[in-house]
Amino acid sequence: MRWTADAIPDQSGRIALVTGANSGLGLETSRALAARGATVLLACRSRAKAEKAREELLTAAASTGALDVLPLDLADLASVAAAAKAVTERYGRLDLLINNAGVMAPPRMLTRNGFELQFGTNHLGHFALTLALLPLLRDRPGARVVTVTSGAQYFGRIAFDDLQGERRYDRWRAYGQSKLANVMFALELQRRLAAQGSGTLSLAAHPGFARTNLQPASIAATGSWIEPLAYRLMDPLFQSAAMGALPQLFAATAPEARPGGHYGPDQWGGLRGWPTEVRIAPAALDAGQCRRLWEVSEALCAAASPQPALA
Ligand SMILES: NC(=O)c1ccc[n+]([C@@H]2O[C@H](COP(=O)([O-])OP(=O)(O)OC[C@H]3O[C@@H](n4cnc5c(N)ncnc54)[C@H](OP(=O)(O)O)[C@@H]3O)[C@@H](O)[C@H]2O)c1
Repeated sequence: MRWTADAIPDQSGRIALVTGANSGLGLETSRALAARGATVLLACRSRAKAEKAREELLTAAASTGALDVLPLDLADLASVAAAAKAVTERYGRLDLLINNAGVMAPPRMLTRNGFELQFGTNHLGHFALTLALLPLLRDRPGARVVTVTSGAQYFGRIAFDDLQGERRYDRWRAYGQSKLANVMFALELQRRLAAQGSGTLSLAAHPGFARTNLQPASIAATGSWIEPLAYRLMDPLFQSAAMGALPQLFAATAPEARPGGHYGPDQWGGLRGWPTEVRIAPAALDAGQCRRLWEVSEALCAAASPQPALA
């Protein structure tokens, strides 16, 4: 199967929110959705970068949908609540939520609410955002939530006894934990939506290896000298950001994508290629563990300090 962005059905009249829309996979996802007529909300932590991305997409001849900038810092639950409130007031509905933004393997840092940065941003920020936006997706035909995970889910483990890496922090383990949490969240969300009889679907996708700002940002945060070398050696395996965005676009728009499906590239063990259904990390297949993660995430967000402003 060679599914490309040309296969995206017409998105006219639909509203899509893409987190981390100013860079890499988020930018390419926004470009493809706008090209098919969607109104895309570029949800970014830097207004300047979001405006720049908006300019770039507007000048691209292919963009037919409207583009709106939405300030969103996933590392700050007050910002998450404010973003959800803004979407509710401005649009009152939503068709696609693409939980795409992410940080990879920085030294141990904390979000504004005191969570380890990767767990807090990649998982808890998206968890809170999704829950706040679900009412807007509820009655929309074909509504979907796509959560972007990574091949790192396969080596991830949820350390329920040390979620924030307080006792032991390894930046790659913490990335693996956050990306495993992404897929566990997507699966548990699908179970809960189905149990409620909701038509909204939850799916997961990963890009394989894609040339984006993820690796340079990680290197800049750590000052590592060995990782740039490793990335240079692995460079032939990396595909473009546009190719990397295809699995999440497939999950978001393909009529054949299934509820709770997990999509990624079809070649080189999932590192590159065209979108196909790919295996889920065994650790995410334990429904009890997914439910436990959900409940812990709910409790952490509810007890977050400083308290997010209520949407
Ligand atoms: N590229 C790959 O090979 C690869 C592989 C597996 C999985 N992924 C996943 O793909 C997703 C997209 O990453 P990418 O490769 O496109 O990397 P990228 O080019 O670095 O884009 C990441 C985006 O996330 C945003 N972001 C980071 N922290 C945020 C926060 N606190 N609040 C809001 N936005 C925030 C970044 O904003 P700034 O520009 O302001 O930093 C940027 O827009 C991530 O979830 C990543 O884990 C990527």
